[in-house]
Amino acid sequence: MEFSEEIPMKGGDGIHGYANNSSLQREAIDVAKKLVNEAIAEKLDIGALVSSKTFCIADLGCSVGPNTFIAVENIIEAVKLKYQSQSPASKIPEFQVFFNDHASNDFNFLFTSLSKDREYYVVGLPGSFHCRIFPEASLHIVHASSSIHWLSRVPKEVMNKNSPAWNGGRIHYTNSADEVIRAYKAQYDEDTDRFLQARAHEVVFGGLMLLIFSSIPNGTLHSQPLENIFFHLLGSCLMDMAKKGIICEEKVDSFNIPYYVPTPEEFEAAVERNGCFSIERKENARGVFVSKNLPNAHIFASHLRAGMEGRLKQHFGGDIIDELFNLYHKKVEEMVPFMLESGKRMDLFVLLKRKADISPLVP
Ligand SMILES: C[S@@+](CC[C@H](N)C(=O)[O-])C[C@H]1O[C@@H](n2cnc3c(N)ncnc32)[C@H](O)[C@@H]1O
Repeated sequence: MEFSEEIPMKGGDGIHGYANNSSLQREAIDVAKKLVNEAIAEKLDIGALVSSKTFCIADLGCSVGPNTFIAVENIIEAVKLKYQSQSPASKIPEFQVFFNDHASNDFNFLFTSLSKDREYYVVGLPGSFHCRIFPEASLHIVHASSSIHWLSRVPKEVMNKNSPAWNGGRIHYTNSADEVIRAYKAQYDEDTDRFLQARAHEVVFGGLMLLIFSSIPNGTLHSQPLENIFFHLLGSCLMDMAKKGIICEEKVDSFNIPYYVPTPEEFEAAVERNGCFSIERKENARGVFVSKNLPNAHIFASHLRAGMEGRLKQHFGGDIIDELFNLYHKKVEEMVPFMLESGKRMDLFVLLKRKADISPLVP
């Protein structure tokens, strides 16, 4: 399988890095903490699960800290509580944590920022979560936050001038023709099927998947999710720069962002097709609007830059980045009141449990 999209968030601890620009994603993890605790307390059957002395947890699409460390520590705390309540006489197992992301992720920075007091063993695991990356039945809990809405590639048709799904002048499906949206949706289905198929092999029977990802309520226009508004604004900045002759328009036509915000029903349909997991819980773990400090244009712009800089540099070269994000910041500033009022953001928390004795369709 060929993957064209393996550009991670910006590494290191500089002002533009993901480590310093991921508080919006952190909010989803914080809001989900209660749901994670309840999921583990109610649905993890440690008697049936742990025959070995090691409890294995994977965080898929971990990027760099601190968010991944917080998520993993929340899970370990909840598993320990579960042992203490369900089986006080038994010894709490040792924890092994696999931090997974693309090979080009800044794993060095991740490793050097690990807490010295951590209570788990660490493995860095490079590779795409759309493939098999673990041995058969080797994981007890899989966690993924703000990562599985990234597609493995831009759908080919949207960059083909002869296709009805050509997305010229835009960089995402926001406000695009139905054919473009359908092409993105088809890629999402294919990727989610692969993701679930791989995990069906890797998660032990009775094991849990704790997934947090962007979603939109059914019936919502694709122009409404906040991320889509951000991508649309970024596209309009690139087109402004093309009109001024700073970049060429063909370059904008051939740049698209592989990111799809599904409805809960679209994700559920993939789980149904797969057949190996039951949906135990599904909740909104929305972050942004429960925050006491509503994000401002600077926060929105710096978060998008941390996520997009590598991708933009690779396609347009590094010289345009500062100018592009200055322009973007101005546009976002004008739009923030509108976005906070009418933009929709839903971080969906989904708890899946691996069904026993059901083999995945594809070996
Ligand atoms: C927005 S970050 C989320 C990081 C962290 N989970 C959090 O909640 O802050 C998304 C991460 O997913 C990773 N990612 C996207 N697609 C991936 C794939 N197919 N396999 C592994 N990692 C992937 C990206 O490289 C990026 O580091």
